[in-house]
Amino acid sequence: MELSTDTLTKIDEVVARYPEKQSATLMVIHLIQDEKGCISDGAVEWIAERLEVEPVNIYEVVTFYPMIRREPWGKTHVRVCRTLPCALRGSYKTCRTLEEKLGVKEGHVSEDGDFSIEFMECLADCGKGPVVIVDEKTYEDVQGEAAEKFAELLKNHTLDKDRNFTSYEDGLAKPRKKTVASSKKGTGKK
Ligand code: FES
Repeated sequence: MELSTDTLTKIDEVVARYPEKQSATLMVIHLIQDEKGCISDGAVEWIAERLEVEPVNIYEVVTFYPMIRREPWGKTHVRVCRTLPCALRGSYKTCRTLEEKLGVKEGHVSEDGDFSIEFMECLADCGKGPVVIVDEKTYEDVQGEAAEKFAELLKNHTLDKDRNFTSYEDGLAKPRKKTVASSKKGTGKK
């Protein structure tokens, strides 16, 4: 398995922190998943050799935690919050809308590999749900007609260009207009 110099350096730093190399297992797994998108069989073997343990010791960690992927997500990965505050504001419907428009069920990757959806617990921005995170960008109040429009823009890869949807992160970079999914007032996000 090939890894970037940056990841290799980080792995060396992490492993050096522990008297027992095996204690760095989870952190090494995360570093590799950040670069590769998942932990393949080859990655398991590589980690086992690096930490001087048996592959089964790595497999048992990889298969225990649901956030560790055995296959990569789609090119665009969409996370929808399903925890109560967002659920009460319609996140289940928002997730269904995204599934229909993007042609992929939550927990899966579309056949062309373009999209994947994860319907998951709190995304730490509970004030104005439903909250949807597209790759690294956070959108609020994605519900009803706005969710339909949001899904269409996403499918056409034009979400970034549409002025009705400003992500929280982009809103921090520039003054925002009042838009469908942009208001951050009263949220818990710092
Ligand atoms: S409940 Fe949805 S972000 Fe926290």
